[in-house]
Amino acid sequence: MSTDEQLMTALVQHSHEGPTDLVLATDRPRPVPGPGEYLIRVGAAGVNFADVTQSRGAYEGGPRAPYPAGFEAAGEIVAAAPDVESPLRIGTHVVGVGAGAFAQYMTMQSADVLPVPAGWSDAESLGLVLNWATALAALKPLGEIEPGQTVLVYAAAGGVGQAAVRLARHYGARVIATASPAKHAIVKALGAEEVLDSRRPDLAAEILRLTGGIDVVLESVGEATFGTSLAVAKPFTGRVIVFGAASGHAELSTRDLIFTHYAQVRGLHISNWAAAAPAAFADLLVELEALIDQGVYPPGTPRIHPLAQGPDVLRQLEAGQTSGKHALDPWS
Ligand SMILES: NC(=O)c1ccc[n+]([C@@H]2O[C@H](COP(=O)([O-])OP(=O)(O)OC[C@H]3O[C@@H](n4cnc5c(N)ncnc54)[C@H](OP(=O)(O)O)[C@@H]3O)[C@@H](O)[C@H]2O)c1
Repeated sequence: MSTDEQLMTALVQHSHEGPTDLVLATDRPRPVPGPGEYLIRVGAAGVNFADVTQSRGAYEGGPRAPYPAGFEAAGEIVAAAPDVESPLRIGTHVVGVGAGAFAQYMTMQSADVLPVPAGWSDAESLGLVLNWATALAALKPLGEIEPGQTVLVYAAAGGVGQAAVRLARHYGARVIATASPAKHAIVKALGAEEVLDSRRPDLAAEILRLTGGIDVVLESVGEATFGTSLAVAKPFTGRVIVFGAASGHAELSTRDLIFTHYAQVRGLHISNWAAAAPAAFADLLVELEALIDQGVYPPGTPRIHPLAQGPDVLRQLEAGQTSGKHALDPWS
């Protein structure tokens, strides 16, 4: 193989100035699988809000610029490190996470990949280990949702949000959602009873008027909505599951919890939760598989963009101008 064949195209983040400094490079070295890793020929890379946060250097424990961008992808196993135990066959298509996903090739830890569901394309499987796993973990093991309860889903037209609305409806919950006005029809079509603009000044009052109180809040916006989340959660029994802070981080004090807000606040980071509770995470994956079999979780329909458009897609995601899942094709 010539040296040129070992080079690949990838997006590299050069500073912490955001997506503006995400740059296409055609001369990146193809990665070599390290201990326990597969080399993946990326078929489609998933775009997540965390990519935006990382590009601003604000993701806790995230990569420091310059770094190969992206962390979610699906593709074909083309090589395995010699120490991978019971490796999947070369040619198997898998979905998972790993550094440098906005590229033609990347590596993933063999223990963490999942096979692409039978009959699904790489792109259709994106979201399985991030959006859907996060939505399900927030609703069930953490949110302890029960049929007939009321769930509040912020950013409900987004990647995690759409999965959460579908799942909450499947589990028999009444869904109150927020999204920018242009996206309301998408969220209504998924079965949300009410869709509100999270930026309206009377958001908490309107949610309380509509519901009398929320059982499970899926909090992903942070600073701009956290006060509302605490205000609308049912005192003592309401759960606020905090897994994102798209607008920035919010503060919570002991004073708040003693004198004002009696919600049960629970934090979630899906990878950290999977590492801390492997048995519960394994159960979650079994449940996701069943949801796929039942058609509750259909093949994803991400909007696919050429890799070179990655910076624009991240800019739109940051500005709240996207809906649903977005993916990058590193070969177009
Ligand atoms: N903890 C975890 O393990 C985990 C895993 C996956 C995702 N997440 C988090 O889940 C959230 C959703 O992720 P995603 O990738 O699916 O993104 P997304 O929902 O597709 O995009 C983010 C959405 O958040 C809303 N938003 C952004 N900035 C806002 C602001 N300043 N004020 C109000 N709303 C704002 C916008 O929706 P509207 O304009 O429609 O309101 C925007 O479209 C993110 O916060 C992400 O970090 C966490």
